[in-house]
Amino acid sequence: MRHMLNPLDFSVEEIDQLLSLASDIEHHLSQYAHVCDGKILATLFYEPSTRTRLSFESAMLHLGGSVLGFSSANSSSAAKGESVADTIRTVSCYADIAAMRHPKEGSALVASMASNIPVINAGDGGHQHPTQTLTDLMTIRSLTGRLDNMTIGLCGDLKFGRTVHSLIEAMVRYPNVKFVLIAPDELKVPSYIRDDVLKAHNIEFKEVNSLDAAMPELDILYMTRVQKERFFNEEDYIRLKDSYILNKEKMKLAKDNMFVLHPLPRVNEISTEVDSDPRAAYFKQVQYGMYVRMALIMTLLEVQKPC
Ligand code: NCD
Repeated sequence: MRHMLNPLDFSVEEIDQLLSLASDIEHHLSQYAHVCDGKILATLFYEPSTRTRLSFESAMLHLGGSVLGFSSANSSSAAKGESVADTIRTVSCYADIAAMRHPKEGSALVASMASNIPVINAGDGGHQHPTQTLTDLMTIRSLTGRLDNMTIGLCGDLKFGRTVHSLIEAMVRYPNVKFVLIAPDELKVPSYIRDDVLKAHNIEFKEVNSLDAAMPELDILYMTRVQKERFFNEEDYIRLKDSYILNKEKMKLAKDNMFVLHPLPRVNEISTEVDSDPRAAYFKQVQYGMYVRMALIMTLLEVQKPC
């Protein structure tokens, strides 16, 4: 039995297969309408979510399966003090696969150790968010035709942004990918990403404060929200929340074939005037998210592609 806790749980070849399956699903959606008939997905969300939970649920429904679950810790036995391990043992009796989001780093790993069904990490605190990364990879590959030979700018809250951590871990495995890490000093990437991932793999990267200066060299700009819920005090959040706001003026500095991604939700960091720019890919990204989750559910349940 396999889980998806971290993007590195899948080799580059396996990710490649998964993205190809997702792309086949995109183009032949109706052919997959019954491949998971009779299967049940549990969505265990201890933290708020719109896209990730609904995208998992929509993915399973498009595969012919069913869904059950909860969307806040308050409405589960967590509110009575039940451990994640006990909850997943229980859920293993009701469902065939589970997607879990939890505010504590490492909680998906804890769940996987107690589980009798595949566990998908749908975000564990400020740590990892591997299915957002699959979404990001599919978006980049679909828009540019490649995952290698590019410069990616990651901008905003690189400290607490789990989507950033997962994306960097996944992208360092492709040849000639360079990173420009654009953040205020207080929100730079954690050392386990800088030292254990980027430096350890001899990846070319720089850490800068200015988005304007970085713009012209980027092939992908990955904007992120300042993660309010991970701050210890509100004053710091208020001081840092509007550090970067991408607008039409800034987009003039970018290449014509650069794409803007954002895991969403957006707060203030991308002005809505950018939405109509053909390089704005963040809503397209949402669509790809459902296809990759369909492909992931099929892969973990070992469901065959229809003939
Ligand atoms: C992200 C998350 O939850 O980490 N959202 C998502 O799943 N698409 C990003 C965020 O909340 O800022």
